[in-house]
Amino acid sequence: MTTTDGAAPSPQTRVPAPEPFLWGVSTSSFQIEGASHVDGRGDSIWDSYCRQKGRIKNGDTGDIACDHYHRYREDIATMRDIGVGAYRFSISWPRILPRGRGAANEAGLDFYDRLVDALLAAGIEPWVCLYHWDLPQALQDLGGWQNRDIAGWFADYAALAAHRFGDRVKRFATFNEPCVFTLFGYGLGWNAPGIADRSAVHRAIHHVNLSHGRAIDVLRQSVTDASLGAIHNRQPCYPVTTREEDVAATRRFAPYWNDAFPYPQHFAHYPLELAEAIEPYVKPGDIAQIARPVDWFGLNHYSPHYVKADSNPIGAGFGAPPDGVHRTVIGWPIIPDAFRDTLLDIHRRFRLPIYVLENGTAADDKPDDTGRVQDTARIAYLDAYTRAMQEAMRAGADVKGYFVWSLLDNFEWASGYSQRFGLAHVDFATQKRTPKASANWYSDLIRSARRSQ
Ligand code: NOJ
Repeated sequence: MTTTDGAAPSPQTRVPAPEPFLWGVSTSSFQIEGASHVDGRGDSIWDSYCRQKGRIKNGDTGDIACDHYHRYREDIATMRDIGVGAYRFSISWPRILPRGRGAANEAGLDFYDRLVDALLAAGIEPWVCLYHWDLPQALQDLGGWQNRDIAGWFADYAALAAHRFGDRVKRFATFNEPCVFTLFGYGLGWNAPGIADRSAVHRAIHHVNLSHGRAIDVLRQSVTDASLGAIHNRQPCYPVTTREEDVAATRRFAPYWNDAFPYPQHFAHYPLELAEAIEPYVKPGDIAQIARPVDWFGLNHYSPHYVKADSNPIGAGFGAPPDGVHRTVIGWPIIPDAFRDTLLDIHRRFRLPIYVLENGTAADDKPDDTGRVQDTARIAYLDAYTRAMQEAMRAGADVKGYFVWSLLDNFEWASGYSQRFGLAHVDFATQKRTPKASANWYSDLIRSARRSQ
């Protein structure tokens, strides 16, 4: 290549090659690691919550989960066989800081060192999420996300992770689905720590936002070439009926679900519907601290929501989709067009590169007589959703990557092990992993997409 004056281009004048599209898989610490009482890990709120009778289906716990703590090498080999370019996982805060702050746990840090090094050796880029819901119990004892001091504790935790892993990890996300863990954990009592209170959720929302902004500053300072973001779930919310109370409930619910975090983080204000309720917790300077620039918008998307009026503290709950809408085994509607529209909506509003950091489905997966798992329902779902994503990209959405939830069947929160989301089947009695037909399908998709790039 020569420039118009005939000289060979200097490296600076070369047009950068377009970044290749990133295909990945996602997991989270509590859902797969197990080894809860090993090597000095502290309790998280999910350990305590699992011990409460009746909270988790079948009384399941995360004590062993997929035993990924001991089997990560095998799991990385599965990723390499599939051919993914990236792996998104989360750090367990209580594994590296057993009491949430103070003394670090060297054995816990060592585990993530080994994991990161093995990923890099396999040619897989590590994407680290700092918080996927497993708050150290010791911090919950001090009020958890309701205590404003948590912004400092979270910033210190982010600094520890950045200093330890930032020489090798460049992609950091602050929070996974902040609306889910605040709303379900503090507003509706469906997830750990099991609180159902309106003012608790408003406090928690603001403190999570503040913690996000503080952590972004710490990560930027400590890892100068880092690429940073947060992971939000956005989904269209439709009323289950046209009755006034369901329509009003949907109007109440949607700003919590879709806007309570992206709005202050990107537009420097709370959505109008929530501003008054959150205002008492906002101090001068907070909003500027929250609205720090980030590099990309992380999206988790599975389906739209059908919302109905409810007497819970938020005044809204989930209803069934109308007859005729296909659903997955967990009951979630399958509407790929809503995924396309969500991507385009994010593109128009936030004007950032988008990474889809979770998409996938639960399915009724059992090995057949030959030991194979023919998860045709998952293949159909992933096929329809990746096509919808490509439609959005053709219409202009700047989508840079797509990650399937999940690599492995795992602990699906209050549903325990009853819902399987993995590309690889896990026999929880033996810990045997069996890649499902969808793993082959995803592998073919990745390889053919790479060939045409
Ligand atoms: C969202 C969450 O981030 C993840 O933890 C969960 O397992 C999946 N969706 C499926 O529900």
